[in-house]
Amino acid sequence: MAFFKAKENTADGVDFQRLPRHIAIIMDGNGRWAKRRGLPRTAGHAAGAETFRTIATYCRDIGLDYLTVYAFSTENWKRPAQEVSAIMGLLKKYLLEAVAKMERDRVKMEFFGDLSPLSPELRELCQRTREISRRYEGCQVNICLNYGGRDELTRAARAYARDCVEGRADPEHLTDSQFGGYLFSKGVPDPDLIIRPSGELRLSNFLLWQSAYAEFYFTDVLWPDFSKQELHRAIAAYQSRSRRFGGV
Ligand code: IPE
Ligand code: IPE
Ligand code: MG
Repeated sequence: MAFFKAKENTADGVDFQRLPRHIAIIMDGNGRWAKRRGLPRTAGHAAGAETFRTIATYCRDIGLDYLTVYAFSTENWKRPAQEVSAIMGLLKKYLLEAVAKMERDRVKMEFFGDLSPLSPELRELCQRTREISRRYEGCQVNICLNYGGRDELTRAARAYARDCVEGRADPEHLTDSQFGGYLFSKGVPDPDLIIRPSGELRLSNFLLWQSAYAEFYFTDVLWPDFSKQELHRAIAAYQSRSRRFGGV
């Protein structure tokens, strides 16, 4: 928001005039947060959903162009059915609220991932959210739902091969930017900064293609405890780095 930028140019060492264009977050640690409090894992997911609301709104307020969050991976189906359905229930609740206030909030939403195994109701809600979002300008939030980096790449390879077989593409002339057009992230610039809370030091199949030159920020804080100050720390760390992209 221009107002925010004019009023407060720095906080916690962050220069709001030099924000990354795109931040991606692996929202991890909900289960451990709940366990530490003697609560069921699903309570951790509910707390994590609140954190997502706060952080997404804040990203819009500071004028970030793109926020991508990992909400449910292609591997997360291995979890107990009751946990999976609690996560889907929280998503539905969030999207119903988001759709209702999208115009006021100026947040656009997209989904990365194969939505076909979701319930028809959730799928329809994602579709509706997408369509409404297309009418707005503003911060774009990409929710990775049933998303896996390898799944995204094999799907892209399949679609590209189909285009070759059917004469729409010529394999001799494929460039990396053309291939990027077959990914869920089509049209979205690569993330500049990838944040993973919860102390795990891995990607867990997140944005394998898009992370080629991302800066990484890891913290032990669990996602439900992730705050604006923690986001500031991540952005300040990002701003202190020298990105060379292979140059000097
Ligand atoms: C992340 O929190 C949420 C999802 C993967 C859906 P976890 O549920 O993985 O939390 P931990 O890692 O068990 O603490
Ligand atoms: C990654 O977290 C997926 C999401 C946050 C949605 P996981 O908890 O599933 O990752 P692993 O199992 O620790 O690698
Ligand atoms: Mg986890």
